[in-house]
Amino acid sequence: MKKGLISTVDYPVSTGKEANVFRATTPDDAFVAVKIYKMETAKFLRKSDYLEGDPRFERVKGSDRAIVEAFARKEFKNLQICQEATVNAPIPYFVRRNVLVMSFLGEDGLPYPRMSDVGIGDEKDLDSILADLQKMYKAGLVHADISKYNILLGEKPFIIDLGQGVVLRHPNAEEFLERDVRNIVKFFSSLGIKRDADELIKKIRGK
Ligand SMILES: Nc1ncnc2c1ncn2[C@@H]1O[C@H](COP(=O)(O)OP(=O)(O)O)[C@@H](O)[C@H]1O
Ligand SMILES: [Mg+2]
Repeated sequence: MKKGLISTVDYPVSTGKEANVFRATTPDDAFVAVKIYKMETAKFLRKSDYLEGDPRFERVKGSDRAIVEAFARKEFKNLQICQEATVNAPIPYFVRRNVLVMSFLGEDGLPYPRMSDVGIGDEKDLDSILADLQKMYKAGLVHADISKYNILLGEKPFIIDLGQGVVLRHPNAEEFLERDVRNIVKFFSSLGIKRDADELIKKIRGK
């Protein structure tokens, strides 16, 4: 607000374990999403191996605040990579401390539902998600937490929640990619859309 980026914080879209997400309005009456990482999440983040193996953030140690702020910066940077690679994901606008401002994914002022809420998806949606995972991989990034909870379903699927995304140099990057693809294939399989995960993983790796 002090920076003049937003004029009002409107309502909480989500109150999660790791972060709260709010809809906010800009001075020119557009909506943005404001994600505020919770300090309580530091203990969990500290133990996770997402920061540790990521060369961009390896040196982040110390206070809870430092760890949580590193996650906010990491999500911002990952969203920048996604934007560059034309992945369907929020556009990052601003990060400061534990607060991240990004484009609001929704319609008529309401956020798009999560894939887990609507429980639908067709072949086209699956292909769009896989294409996005491949674009990310080509750009050197693995989401590492893809599931029906981190995909919003608008006119097409959007990938969100990039805080734990890692660069390919992370020692577990390939393992995270496999897990992401298997998760998404399993979800679509429950909708009757069957695909061979091994084939898809190979394709994403370009092998
Ligand atoms: N850019 C956005 N636009 C609209 N809604 C969003 C946006 N980012 C997150 N949300 C909503 O907030 C929820 C939580 O966001 P997420 O980034 O997944 O954080 P976490 O899972 O760590 O709580 C999402 O499931 C989604 O409903
Ligand atoms: Mg999430």
